[in-house]
Amino acid sequence: MKMSLTVNGTRHEVDVRPTARLIDVLRDELGLTGTKEGCGEGECGACTVLVDGKAVASCLMLALQACGKEVTTVEGLAHGGELSLLQRQFIAHGAVQCGFCTPGMLMSAQALLMENPTPSADEIRTALAGNLCRCTGYSAIIAAIRAASGREADRADGSA
Ligand code: FES
Ligand code: FES
Repeated sequence: MKMSLTVNGTRHEVDVRPTARLIDVLRDELGLTGTKEGCGEGECGACTVLVDGKAVASCLMLALQACGKEVTTVEGLAHGGELSLLQRQFIAHGAVQCGFCTPGMLMSAQALLMENPTPSADEIRTALAGNLCRCTGYSAIIAAIRAASGREADRADGSA
């Protein structure tokens, strides 16, 4: 089936199987391999992208469900070759180790910050509850998100 979807601000026409998942179209048709597939069952969050500004697991969504919607992948966070503040804070805080979970973490964090620009540590933990990381222990990730939200000074309260 032919469908159109807008990814990172660019409209694409693609020919997809009706059962194709959004992650398959992003990675295999559009070459946006920043989005990772971990579990393929909605459990790990590695495949998280934004659809109309909301974080969704792209392994659970049919590509056809994204028809006419705005999809943002991790490739859409940087602008003009410059990483976003959120991405830079992940690097600055050592919130990236193997990196496999990082695109999904970034997209869940991005969705949170768009909805709540100054989340508490608990609100960040809740927003990331669907994103698993086997490397970092999460503290650095939470600190990076708080820094990107302008709440780094609050870390002194020990709640991060
Ligand atoms: S690959 Fe989609 S949630 Fe794990
Ligand atoms: S950095 Fe390796 S899984 Fe998160």
